[in-house]
Amino acid sequence: MANRNLSKAKKAKNDEFYTQLNDILKEMNAYLEYNPDVFRGKTVFCPCDDPEWSNFTRYFAQSFDLLGLKKLICTSFAADSNPYNDYYQPSLFETESPQYDPTKTRSKGKLFILTQDKNKDGKIDIDDLEWEYLQGDGDFRSEEVKPFRDEADFIITNPPFSLFREFLAWVTEANKQFSVIGSKNAITYKEIFPLIKDNRIWTGSSSFNTDMLFISPEPINPNDKPDTATRTVDGVVYLRSPAIWFTNIEHGRRHEPIPFMDMRKNLKYNRKIRENETAYKKYDNYNAIEVPITKAIPSDYDGVMGVPISFLDKYCPEQFEIVGMAQRECHNEFPDTKKYDGYVQMKSNGEVEGSNGKKIDEAPVIEGKIEGKTYYQNEQGRIVSSLYMRIFIRFKR
Ligand SMILES: C[S@@+](CC[C@H](N)C(=O)[O-])C[C@H]1O[C@@H](n2cnc3c(N)ncnc32)[C@H](O)[C@@H]1O
Repeated sequence: MANRNLSKAKKAKNDEFYTQLNDILKEMNAYLEYNPDVFRGKTVFCPCDDPEWSNFTRYFAQSFDLLGLKKLICTSFAADSNPYNDYYQPSLFETESPQYDPTKTRSKGKLFILTQDKNKDGKIDIDDLEWEYLQGDGDFRSEEVKPFRDEADFIITNPPFSLFREFLAWVTEANKQFSVIGSKNAITYKEIFPLIKDNRIWTGSSSFNTDMLFISPEPINPNDKPDTATRTVDGVVYLRSPAIWFTNIEHGRRHEPIPFMDMRKNLKYNRKIRENETAYKKYDNYNAIEVPITKAIPSDYDGVMGVPISFLDKYCPEQFEIVGMAQRECHNEFPDTKKYDGYVQMKSNGEVEGSNGKKIDEAPVIEGKIEGKTYYQNEQGRIVSSLYMRIFIRFKR
């Protein structure tokens, strides 16, 4: 029981990372660079955001006039519904308002609306936010919050990490434009990859290559061993997370084709490819070749290629078509896929792994035994080695 509570608290804590203003600015600027009027006359909804701690609320409130917004709606989640609520203190913004109610502050969600220059100081900004308690706790899944989603043109936030699948389904079912932060791993979710494949959603403009730093809601005791990589700058604790943006808002970077080298030049000039015994080999179970590094995609190959998921950082839909993925139920859609019912995992000493032999999954495999890779044997004694998860792509000619 204690363990269960601990893991619940840990999960809730991971749901509580706050996004830095600079990360929001960079991403939104990429949309604005592509279309300076992208938000003009539009309603933006931030459904996990309170002005006390959300830089999403701050960004859109402070840029209201500049972006030409019609309306900003934010809702926040009640402290009592959040297992990670130890640090909750009502803000001055709340306690100094005439509608402050100590019986509701912990149990009710809040609604914040910005539409007009309420204080008549000549500009619309955070000082003009109007707010009230919601009837319920502000759960984005509640019937009370849904109409705000339906009213909005854009849904933009960093949602709770543990509810990401549900959150994205909630956004896409409403057919809205959105930009949300999620784990890189979410690319491979069976609910998400097909949307990426069909170009209905894509990754944001911020690069994959560096993890994002989020603001920790609590001070971290230097004597505690943190369970997440942390960095303290000027007394603020940042938590590192391999997070990226998922969006269906256009930005320029995804329309920039990359000038790749052909296979011969890659083999000549790219030592990592020359020394990689799997590079450009045909998979045994997919009708495609292995490309272990996105940079080494051979420009003269017309067939299907298996590339790391970080390829999406360079994906230009005018240059490539995504045809599938090597796991998570996207496997069966792939043309000419072999089934591996007879293959069992082997230990390095040649014994079968597990009592009856662990069956192969959908990972791409290459004929032969490759050092450091899991390998499998079929009934006829043929050996294959499994590689990392791959996305399958081909050039659009
Ligand atoms: C990862 S944090 C990000 C907060 C803020 N959007 C930001 O980027 O700084 C996710 C937030 O969602 C809230 N939350 C958790 N479960 C929720 C739910 N079911 N409905 C709405 N908000 C929720 C958490 O309290 C937390 O503040």
